[in-house]
Amino acid sequence: MTTRLAVIPGDGIGPEVVAEALKTLDAVEAVYHPDVRVEMLPYGADHYLRTGVTIPPEEMRRLGSECEAVLVGALGDPRVPGNEHARDILLGMRFQLDLYVNERPARLFAERLTPLKGKRPSDLQLMVFRENTEGLYVSVGGTFKQGTPDEIAIAEELNTRKGVERIVRYAFEWAAAHGKTRVTMADKANAIPAHGLWRRVFDEVGREHPGITRDTRYIDAMAMDLVRTPESFQVIVTGNLFGDILSDLASMLVGGLGLAPSANRHPGAVTMYEPVHGSAPPLAGKNVANPMAAILTLAMMLADRGAAAAAGAVEGAVRAAIDAGVGTADVGGTMGTREVGDWIAARVRAGA
Ligand code: NAD
Ligand code: IPM
Ligand code: MN
Repeated sequence: MTTRLAVIPGDGIGPEVVAEALKTLDAVEAVYHPDVRVEMLPYGADHYLRTGVTIPPEEMRRLGSECEAVLVGALGDPRVPGNEHARDILLGMRFQLDLYVNERPARLFAERLTPLKGKRPSDLQLMVFRENTEGLYVSVGGTFKQGTPDEIAIAEELNTRKGVERIVRYAFEWAAAHGKTRVTMADKANAIPAHGLWRRVFDEVGREHPGITRDTRYIDAMAMDLVRTPESFQVIVTGNLFGDILSDLASMLVGGLGLAPSANRHPGAVTMYEPVHGSAPPLAGKNVANPMAAILTLAMMLADRGAAAAAGAVEGAVRAAIDAGVGTADVGGTMGTREVGDWIAARVRAGA
């Protein structure tokens, strides 16, 4: 099966971690021969500052119609304080290509990586499903009298029956397909009456899966319980903003953003893959960023594209690196971005 993969390295550490993911892909190709056709795209802060263009509308359409996969490094640059290029490119793909599922696994590979006392890998095997096309991210609202003492700033939170139902259904179906017995939904229905929609839909859709326990939390208690009793969670489903926050929190419980992969999906359409982390400007250009999140993101892509053995080899190589103490400083190692990528790629090649 051919995979047309568009790659947007983006800003900050994005190009550095994407280079290591592509190095790993080279190793995968030497051994497993998946048919992946890579096309590099220049979009990001540099391109925007040089040309005034974030991403052309026809290019967005082409990603949706002519690619099976897009790999993004990260977008965000202090020279673009309004972040408009990231909104156009990253949120643009999520919204315009209707990638409503943001799948963000958080799995503990080794006990030493969690900051939680006494928790083992079996205690921390989470999947976070973040609604990706609605919520507070829709830019409905605006500012009025900006810069004056009377300034008003309004952001409406959009929750549609269709939008809530499809992400909740996706979470239950994923849980059922993966032998999970519990799905937890986090909202703020006690303070925000509109979140009652999430509760009703969760209950309705959940009833279709009698073998799966339904569990609901308010987002504040959810954040607390995720730290207190992470073992009580298997699959978490929540709205756009809460999912953004919970996925960073969940990543930190299993070793940090340097290890957190994600996929933005709409079944049957192009999938956009990205590490959960951002462009980390203070780390950029120093060969210190952890490339493992980007490499594990590549593994998600390979698994989706029918290259299960290759995906397993890539994840296995990352696990082996962790076990061997190979890594960047954020995971307790002493190596650089490129050296970690070299090690993982060599390990994949040795799997031949
Ligand atoms: P960030 O994720 O870039 O960094 C947060 C912290 O995590 C930093 O302390 C950094 O040192 C650490 N970190 C992140 N990735 C790491 C890696 N691979 N290896 C080691 N440590 C890592 O978040 P931020 O600082 O809030 O945002 C910086 C910029 O990135 C902003 O412009 C933001 O909007 C953007 N951003 C983009 C994305 C994306 O493109 N998907 C995601 C989050 C943030
Ligand atoms: C993420 C990021 C983005 C988000 C930013 C860069 C707009 O934090 O992918 O988690 O909030 O979705
Ligand atoms: Mn985020």
